[in-house]
Amino acid sequence: MPELYYGGDYNPEQWSPEVWAEDMALMRRAGVNLATVGVFSWSSLEPEPGRYEFDWLDQVLDLLHGNGIRVNLATPTASPPPWFSLAHPDALPVTADGVRLLHGSRDTYCVCAPAYREAALGIARTLGERYGDHPALAMWHVHNEYGSTCYCDHVAGSFRTWLQRKYGDLAALNTAWLTAFWSQGYSAWEQVFPPRRTQYLPNPSQTLDFRRFLSDELLDAFREQRDVLRELSPGIPITTNFVFGGWVPVDHWRWSDEVDLVAIDHYPDSAGIEAEQQTAFGADLARAWGKGRWLLMEQAASGLHDHGRVQAKEPGRMTRNSLSHVARGSSGALFFQWRASRGGAERFHSGMVPHAGADSRAFEEIVEFGELLPKLAEADAAKVDAEVAILWDAESWWATDGPGLPSSEIDYLAAVRAAHRQLWNLGVGTDFAHPTSDLSAYKVVIVPSLYLVSDEAAEAVNRYAEGGGQLLVTSLSGIADANAQIRLGGYPGAFRELLGIRVEEFLPVGGTIELNNGAVGEGWSERVRLDGAEAVARYQGGTLDGLPAITRYRNAWYLSTWLRDPAYESLVEQVVRAAGVEPSGLPRGVEVITRTAGDSQYRFVLNHTTDEVSLPYGGLDLVRGETADKVSVAPGGWVVLRESVR
Ligand code: GLA
Repeated sequence: MPELYYGGDYNPEQWSPEVWAEDMALMRRAGVNLATVGVFSWSSLEPEPGRYEFDWLDQVLDLLHGNGIRVNLATPTASPPPWFSLAHPDALPVTADGVRLLHGSRDTYCVCAPAYREAALGIARTLGERYGDHPALAMWHVHNEYGSTCYCDHVAGSFRTWLQRKYGDLAALNTAWLTAFWSQGYSAWEQVFPPRRTQYLPNPSQTLDFRRFLSDELLDAFREQRDVLRELSPGIPITTNFVFGGWVPVDHWRWSDEVDLVAIDHYPDSAGIEAEQQTAFGADLARAWGKGRWLLMEQAASGLHDHGRVQAKEPGRMTRNSLSHVARGSSGALFFQWRASRGGAERFHSGMVPHAGADSRAFEEIVEFGELLPKLAEADAAKVDAEVAILWDAESWWATDGPGLPSSEIDYLAAVRAAHRQLWNLGVGTDFAHPTSDLSAYKVVIVPSLYLVSDEAAEAVNRYAEGGGQLLVTSLSGIADANAQIRLGGYPGAFRELLGIRVEEFLPVGGTIELNNGAVGEGWSERVRLDGAEAVARYQGGTLDGLPAITRYRNAWYLSTWLRDPAYESLVEQVVRAAGVEPSGLPRGVEVITRTAGDSQYRFVLNHTTDEVSLPYGGLDLVRGETADKVSVAPGGWVVLRESVR
């Protein structure tokens, strides 16, 4: 039985050997079995060019090994030391405004600078040679959260090479970018640049290609390190920690094929029940990227960011958050970081060992969680059940992450989260899928604001609809082609026929807009013409009075406004029920995740409410070791059951 990983980023270079000794004792007490070491330790490992100091890391790895703790060894390439910046000023990143940044924070490098690539590969090789066969080594953690952007001349050169490979000649590029607009026609490759700061709105196709290019370039940098480490330590899995945010130029679908294990860092941006919904969202997405297998590499032990404030997680919440990830397939729960730093930029970021020390409520919960986690290991091999998929695509996000759209409120992430939230509220297990994938296994597919749709994706979605599965498409889907150019003839171009509608105009709304079924939309509406479909609900009042707002054509539904939550939930419920998928029926805030392996079904129940709930679920309680035919879950509590489904 594989263990579930428990632990986090461990930064002994910030502490004295006396503290290391205490760390070992506390890690043992907490049941930590994996420590991520060295993420930002380049200047401690190589304080001067070519002069290495490995003693401390030798000692730390041996100490961890001696204490039965395995090591996730990082290459420190996300933060080159100050000497590197001064020796290679051309490897410092340049902003879109032309400002060259200096060291003093982290991620101050240009991924296209030859000096950086060489140095990064060099330190990775040095670490691989020294520690590739260390008995504590469980995994390589290449770099940290790839995502840096630069606009310098190195980048311009690499971008042109990438474009030449993609388009072959300038005529094709000029067509794809529609450079005839605003006299941007290029007559020599030297005229093409990254989207540096310009006078007014940038070219959206250029901006999109730049993010695609950066994703590929960063991936090349990852692959270089990965290949060297693979050669030096065959069989040791190699990963990097994914992060998501609008700023990240990484297409995680493509990257997922290149790592041995998908790993994500996850920090919800809200402290309320939204944090639970976002936790589920990130975990479901990671499971999709990892094709079922993945690892939560970082989460906060305590602090939840909430609009400028950091809220301590209330007792039990760290446990529930961790279980929510594990329930959705993470092979463990890791944190940033083991011990909260006493200085540095993130001195107030929580740690498994808080500033208050081990004699604290927070550490007690860390210890308790460390006791329960191993009891769930048998569920790790079970498949998470999901009959519904939501389509996710970074390119649609990138294509809508810029100016010049019909509303500044257009927000791809919010649209996908909203769709996922309805399913979470209904207690319906959900996967994510790439728009070009085979969707036939799903009973329901939701396509939220999938603005950019390649011909291949359009075909895949059409094929799914033809197969009879319920499909819900929401506004702003199918609008643009792979070059981010608009599909003409009426929106949603790629899906018009399958939806049996034609949208003639977008009508963004300042506030709310009413529908004749009592629902309220906000921010957005459209002039929808029926072309085979029937109206499920119509707009009420205003210019669109009496015109369709929600439509249905056989198994294909269309939602033309940003429905507020209770109404959106009812619509999603109608769609899933049409497919024969049953909502869990649990009280709001009580989630259940089911997983199946052979004839065993696992049920993870998390009670995020302040009320005790009694549920008709039976089976063996994996943690408490008792069998029952119904369970009560305390306020803020949880239970994991195994039941035979034969
Ligand atoms: C990221 C990084 C960590 C740390 C945390 C803090 O995930 O990888 O180094 O900065 O965020 O939120």
